[in-house]
Amino acid sequence: MNDPLCDRTGRIWAVSFAGIAMALLAWPMAVQGQEVTFARDVAPILQENCQVCHRPGGMGPMSLLTYEEAQPWAPIIKDRVANRRMPPWHIEPGIGIQDFKNDVSLSDEQIGTIVQWVDSGAPLGDPADMPPPLTFDESISWKLESHFGRPPDLIVASPPYTVPPTGLDHWFEPVSYVDGLTEPRWAMATEIRPGDLESRYVFHHANSELASSAAGKDYDLFPSDAGKLIEPGQRIEWAMHFFPSGQLVENAYIELGIWLYPPGERPELEVSHASFLTDPRANRTVLQQNSGCWEQPARVPLDSPECNVQTRLNDLALPPHGVATQQGVHVLERNMRLNSIRGHMHMRGKYQTMEAIYPDGRREVVNRINWDHRWHTAHQYDDHAAPLFPKGTVLIVTAQYDNTLDNPNNPDPDQWVFFGRRSADEMGHFHVELTWLEDDEFERLVAEREQLLRQMAQLEEDGQ
Ligand code: HEC
Repeated sequence: MNDPLCDRTGRIWAVSFAGIAMALLAWPMAVQGQEVTFARDVAPILQENCQVCHRPGGMGPMSLLTYEEAQPWAPIIKDRVANRRMPPWHIEPGIGIQDFKNDVSLSDEQIGTIVQWVDSGAPLGDPADMPPPLTFDESISWKLESHFGRPPDLIVASPPYTVPPTGLDHWFEPVSYVDGLTEPRWAMATEIRPGDLESRYVFHHANSELASSAAGKDYDLFPSDAGKLIEPGQRIEWAMHFFPSGQLVENAYIELGIWLYPPGERPELEVSHASFLTDPRANRTVLQQNSGCWEQPARVPLDSPECNVQTRLNDLALPPHGVATQQGVHVLERNMRLNSIRGHMHMRGKYQTMEAIYPDGRREVVNRINWDHRWHTAHQYDDHAAPLFPKGTVLIVTAQYDNTLDNPNNPDPDQWVFFGRRSADEMGHFHVELTWLEDDEFERLVAEREQLLRQMAQLEEDGQ
């Protein structure tokens, strides 16, 4: 293992060099010398990684509980798994940081097992090898409940909205207020979920100032030293996106769950949200720090400290059968820890990349997201891997759009595509969750990180 430590100027990522080497090799032979069977080798992988969604009533389009259900899908399963599109995890392996709290990707060995199983005719094997079936909780539950051992301390419900059976996208931007607090409190995590089963069918994504959610993105688990302040009666502005499902849903609503630090307890650091937009006209990135800037650009002065610069990304023009790339640059005026990274594009989106140029001139890719508009995962960095950027770092964000037939998600390559909110229009930005750091805080985190990485390297050495 290479030394994961770098110098004090902030390049202190725990990039997995082993992962790069693996990606260059063919899939490792998963099971040497014996036939790979569904019962013994594949079923445990599906149980652990797929069935939570691929079961009756789950969000996946088909059930993968039994051999009879899985076998007809074998070639498509191989394709999705080998191309790393399933389970849904869109960080390009081998480029940039690979250590995330919510990584659901398969190991190279697991992928190798599935590929080998499909290539050898997808045999069942000995039914006696089948693991006992899993049992699932069918209610709508909070994902973080098992993490914290309790439901959220506060729940805020959105007003209901009626979604007709057919038609195009619906946006709904109502307001709610936090009820039930007598004093300001610090949040350690937030989660958004559809309010009930019917809402789940039509719910595409929602943002609030506190949290955001989309298919595949449910919660924000803040770094263990950080939190967000919630005021009694705080206004929650929702930005919800529904899509008709074929049936009338009269009271679609969503809920925001908030887990709090104990009363009187204040985390060391604060978490905030920002978006990096690629702006083709100015060829620079616009950092937006509050939703007010996004919703009401005209009312925010250009030099407002709340949002460094304000423009709308409205002159993207993607020709029929063409590709387009937008790139933007943003210089950080303050030290920053990047806690999580989430892409946003629509159906012609291909990938988004974030790179950093450090004050000493070194340039590195932070991450590349292989875009799939069905998934809006917030990739949450492990505490030891969240990038620490010193002020003066230049962040470069790139968005590439593909309006050709090569893009399997392209609904119609003969169309011109422009900036817009509908799924058939395009846009590209990064949503990040970050912590701004004073110089002394930054120095302290860098020192702590160096110590942690040294300990991890030592442990690894001792284990060998
Ligand atoms: C978080 C939920 C989730 C998990 C976990 C998940 N899937 Fe999926 N899967 C979906 C959804 C939703 C779709 C449909 C949207 C899409 O294709 O992205 C899908 C689509 C697929 C498809 C394509 C079906 C088609 O009609 O083209 C295959 C094959 C598949 N999944 C296999 C798997 C396998 C194998 C695993 C585990 C190794 C897995 N999935 C894990 C939710 C999930």
